[in-house]
Amino acid sequence: MKADIVQDSGNPTGHGRPEDWPKYIADQGWENYTSEDHDVWKALFERQSEIVKGRACQEYLDGIAALEMDQTQIPNFAEASKLLKAKTGWEVVAVDGLIPDLPFFQLLAERKFPAGNFIRKPEQMDYIEEPDVFHDFFGHVPLLANPIFADYMEAYGKGGLKAHQHGTITNLARLYWYTVEFGLIQQEDGMRIYGAGILSSPGETKFAVESDSPNRVALDLKRVMQTNYRVDDFQQTYFVIDSFDQLFKETYADFSKLYEDIKADNTEYAPDDIADGDTVFTRGTQAYANGKK
Ligand code: PHE
Ligand code: FE
Repeated sequence: MKADIVQDSGNPTGHGRPEDWPKYIADQGWENYTSEDHDVWKALFERQSEIVKGRACQEYLDGIAALEMDQTQIPNFAEASKLLKAKTGWEVVAVDGLIPDLPFFQLLAERKFPAGNFIRKPEQMDYIEEPDVFHDFFGHVPLLANPIFADYMEAYGKGGLKAHQHGTITNLARLYWYTVEFGLIQQEDGMRIYGAGILSSPGETKFAVESDSPNRVALDLKRVMQTNYRVDDFQQTYFVIDSFDQLFKETYADFSKLYEDIKADNTEYAPDDIADGDTVFTRGTQAYANGKK
């Protein structure tokens, strides 16, 4: 199976050969964190756990509680993985930074979440470009304790390997962006956040659910996969799901036909577009001047 996945092994875009993928896994080197590193974690954790109250979805808050996350020091991945593994079979493995798509997909398919082993510096409290341990652990790991979301992430990893064969990684990556990183969920008591890119950012946590500026539109797979995104600012459009059940059921279907439709259709939406057929929760004013980041 693995051999088919990398038909272009050795090509100039270089996904690497499957034999080489394990080399992306690093040591966490937990004992090398300095007291300054742990203090950065503590300050981020304290601030952000207040901000996510009433804004993050219930499943995420349950995950924080279930993992008994320690406010005072950077989590030890091996320790945390014991609890997580008992809940959903997921574990957290360390990486030095971003890794290529294919080994990333492969890890997710094996229920291994690659988390950055480094932490930002005190002067980067509000924003850091590369995913560090605060983004990865505080943002992503709590939901991996939720059985449905855990299944979604594994399915996504397998779907990534398949998208590679269809030449549609770009489209599938947009689904990840607008769900796993920047997803909103409509819950009984209001609009809530589940995306890790939001939940690890104090500014965007407030912005995503309270600002008049962005669009909030019901998730539609094809539409999302045709939508560009911005990496340098708050999102101009958020996509909203009803439940993790809905997300899992919709994405579980075979995407082969959808990929063919997308290729044939050739439509691309800008990050702030409202498309024909969108179910709009809120149409944004887009009236914010580069809020951050
Ligand atoms: N069902 C998708 C496919 O057939 C895989 C997938 C599952 C993608 C879940 C994303 C999320 O390719
Ligand atoms: Fe992330």
